[in-house]
Amino acid sequence: MAIVIIVANQKGGVGKTNTAINVAVCLSLKGKRTLLTDIDPQGNASRVLSGGRFAFERSSAEIFSEKKLDVSELIEPACDGSPDKEIDNLYLLPANDALSNAIKIAATRVRRESILANAFKQIDDELDYIVVDCPPNKDLGFQNAVTAADIILVPIDGGGDFSLDGIGSMLQSIEELRGEGDDAPVMRVFRSIYDVRKSKVNNKITKELTEGEMPTLTTKISDSTQVSQGILENRAVVKFAKGSVVAGQFQRLTSEAVALLE
Ligand SMILES: Nc1ncnc2c1ncn2[C@@H]1O[C@H](COP(=O)(O)OP(=O)(O)OP(=O)(O)O)[C@@H](O)[C@H]1O
Ligand SMILES: [Mg+2]
Repeated sequence: MAIVIIVANQKGGVGKTNTAINVAVCLSLKGKRTLLTDIDPQGNASRVLSGGRFAFERSSAEIFSEKKLDVSELIEPACDGSPDKEIDNLYLLPANDALSNAIKIAATRVRRESILANAFKQIDDELDYIVVDCPPNKDLGFQNAVTAADIILVPIDGGGDFSLDGIGSMLQSIEELRGEGDDAPVMRVFRSIYDVRKSKVNNKITKELTEGEMPTLTTKISDSTQVSQGILENRAVVKFAKGSVVAGQFQRLTSEAVALLE
């Protein structure tokens, strides 16, 4: 059974997509059969891991709109920088803008929060990990990701002083969906675009995380221009800048996340 790692935060621009991409690539580099599932209609992760494609005929929208579906037909090899450079062990289940509507329509279905988890059951024997890139909201797509999750990673940077706004209500939604029992997912917050120079903001965030007894990963991902340079070429930074500080941080973050269930 594949382990499902979701990257979620209702706040926009906090590094969800970058984290999902790099964690997925790191897992594939460890030889783990990994699928990145994009459930954000913006499709940013799909663009990067397809080597720059914008249009996808088939997408995760079908998971929400079709009741009978062979999920494996939606999956394609993931690529590094161009469509002809496939990444070993890494696959992509892309998103497109049909997803917004599909999710709205799915709101009337029974057991609507479990649609994604059920779809994963069709494919998870052939995979070690499924990484899900979530949209910046708490809609039914997010709820489905939480229902399917074994591990929830919550990147929190990008909002400066306001980085932790909304975290409380998100954690509450997670708890309402999954409770605190044995099969509840493990949730960890982490610094995703960490700028050492912003010491005042950093101290404020550290204080709030400590006072709120927020479970946190020790690895921090630095604010690095190599990340955005890589994205411009549709490459994960762990591939684009192999051996860089930020690539090493993503490797450690991935190991730390995976170890949560060991
Ligand atoms: N560690 C980093 N260093 C520098 N830039 C980063 C880093 N992580 C992400 N970024 C940049 O910050 C922006 C937002 O990142 P990303 O798209 O991963 O966030 P997101 O939470 O997925 O956004 P959205 O909510 O819109 O889906 C992007 O331009 C990305 O390239
Ligand atoms: Mg994103």
